[in-house]
Amino acid sequence: MIDSHGRTIRDLRISITDRCNFRCVYCMEPDVRFAPPETLLTVDEIVRVASIAESLGVRKVRLTGGEPTLHPRLTDIIAGLDVATDVEVALITNASLLSRDALGAWKSAGLARLTISIDSLRPERFARLTRSSSSPVQVLKGVEMSLDEGLSPVKLNAVLIRGFNDDEAVELAALARTFGVEMRFIEYMPLDSAHAWDSSKWVSAAETRAAIERVFPLTACDDDEPSSTARTFRFADLPNDSSARVGFIAPVSTPFCGACSRLRITADGKVRPCLFSTTEWDLRSPLRAGATDQELANFLIDATWTKQPGHGITSHGFVQPERPMSAIGG
Ligand code: 5AD
Ligand code: SF4
Repeated sequence: MIDSHGRTIRDLRISITDRCNFRCVYCMEPDVRFAPPETLLTVDEIVRVASIAESLGVRKVRLTGGEPTLHPRLTDIIAGLDVATDVEVALITNASLLSRDALGAWKSAGLARLTISIDSLRPERFARLTRSSSSPVQVLKGVEMSLDEGLSPVKLNAVLIRGFNDDEAVELAALARTFGVEMRFIEYMPLDSAHAWDSSKWVSAAETRAAIERVFPLTACDDDEPSSTARTFRFADLPNDSSARVGFIAPVSTPFCGACSRLRITADGKVRPCLFSTTEWDLRSPLRAGATDQELANFLIDATWTKQPGHGITSHGFVQPERPMSAIGG
């Protein structure tokens, strides 16, 4: 699948549910209306679409949400993908509902990698930020269990918001050292349900990095893949082969759209060529109207062709997509 700007799609992100047990301030505040269950793609539909996408060059499928671990048949989805495709299967989760049994089942079913979101280490703040009764202790336990289960690599994600948790960059970066994982800082993007994003709440990757470097000097890694969203760094005081790293995902200050290899499918079966697409392609209708694999492949090819050159967040006339991150999938 190639778009009209010459980019090739290799990564498919599939939101398997738009439900979440959190209501993060940068995503689901105010509360959003969930899609009716019958509109959500079924396990078989998800596996079929991924398999068609693989035949068109997709190499990696990331399962997202909402919170994908809320899906009652997550293990079946992973197993279905494992049987029907050779794609690498990754999962992104808020880690509040993990158990050793579930992690073990996902790993056996074929899950390759896991990304866990953690935005604050302070219990009261964590609760306010996620608008949930969960705690950072629970999430850190999830990180530990994931590593124990041998899921590798485990990566951590944080979004810093000015005046909320922007004073935690160093403490969060230290998690990379504690667990021997990559801690990634994602710049806050205008994908909140309130449409209240503004640059005064946004913290640049450069500022975050400077704060971390005042305590932990960093050395740039030279092995980042060109289509990777993150620029990664090692800790200068740790051995070169340490797996502890810090990554910066800077869609706002340093857009990486030129090297984008991603296509997204929402939980209700809409193809979004870009996180910031304002037009969606309804894949669910042909899927349920008996379209052949070839027809669905052509549909994906056509949708990909329309992929916009970039998100244009900082450009004049930028229009935020109607739906928040929870409905799109990260
Ligand atoms: N800006 C940046 N990142 C976001 N995420 C959710 N909403 C936003 C936003 N508005 C992140 C989550 C998760 C990933 C799926 O996307 O924290 O790590
Ligand atoms: Fe849920 Fe993730 Fe959105 Fe938070 S960012 S409300 S965890 S979907």
